[in-house]
Amino acid sequence: MLWLVLSTVFLGNSVAGSPAPVPDGELVGIIGGDSAPQGKWPWQVSLRVYAYHWASWVHICGGSLVHPRWVLTAAHCISRKEADPSAYRIHAGDVYLYGGKALLNVSRVIVHPDYVSAGLGADIALLQLSDAAEGAANVKPVRLSSAPLEVTPEDQCWVTGWGSIGMHEPLPPPYRLQQVAVRVVENGVCDQLYHNVSSEHHQLGKIIQDDMLCAGTEGRDSCYGDSGGPLVCKVKHVWYLVGVVSWGYGCGWRDAPGVYARVQTYEPWITRQIQSHP
Ligand code: ARG
Repeated sequence: MLWLVLSTVFLGNSVAGSPAPVPDGELVGIIGGDSAPQGKWPWQVSLRVYAYHWASWVHICGGSLVHPRWVLTAAHCISRKEADPSAYRIHAGDVYLYGGKALLNVSRVIVHPDYVSAGLGADIALLQLSDAAEGAANVKPVRLSSAPLEVTPEDQCWVTGWGSIGMHEPLPPPYRLQQVAVRVVENGVCDQLYHNVSSEHHQLGKIIQDDMLCAGTEGRDSCYGDSGGPLVCKVKHVWYLVGVVSWGYGCGWRDAPGVYARVQTYEPWITRQIQSHP
């Protein structure tokens, strides 16, 4: 009983965007990124919601085009399971977040039925676009890995997004898309690391579930605002969407890699949704 309560505390901490207090003076600094060239990551989108305070559609999360009419993002980016599609817009085809590109309308929101919280897994959701995002410059869906993609630490993997460049440092204007190469960390190793960072609360059982994937090292990671965005790996000259930015303990810490939803696990579900809602 006790461990259940404690594990809830730990998961709550790590997922909610306010992780355990950062030791004073230990600035995480940038998370190792640099500005992405226009058109290099044509599947990257920004998920927007309307903010009355700013009277504009603001970025809340990243996402990836997985089909001309479908965006894959994180379930925790969507406020409710029965979300109203008209509450969202999609920005595609520009590395500058607020560069004046027309936003795309969303006609359907599908949160994975098993999703409860990012720390428990199934942190994915699909958004169907009212009109295909095809044809425009710098817009192109990414491939999903359907056969087991053996991603090894040697493969070239990158995570991209408009999220924070430091723990307490939002991306400054002109809000250009950032990219960083990250190394995939094997699940067993990552689970051990996460048991260590949470040693105050004895975590029994797995923290890193089988439908999660870890990537990143000290100073190279995704961070707040990158959620929902792509972790892609180039395997035999083709880019595959391998992960969806989900959660982490802080950002860019040495012993806490970023945690991603493992796209491989959900490929059948994604394909089924796309086929059943033409
Ligand atoms: N949950 C964050 C978001 O909503 C993403 C955190 C990723 N953290 C990490 N260390 N990679 O944007």
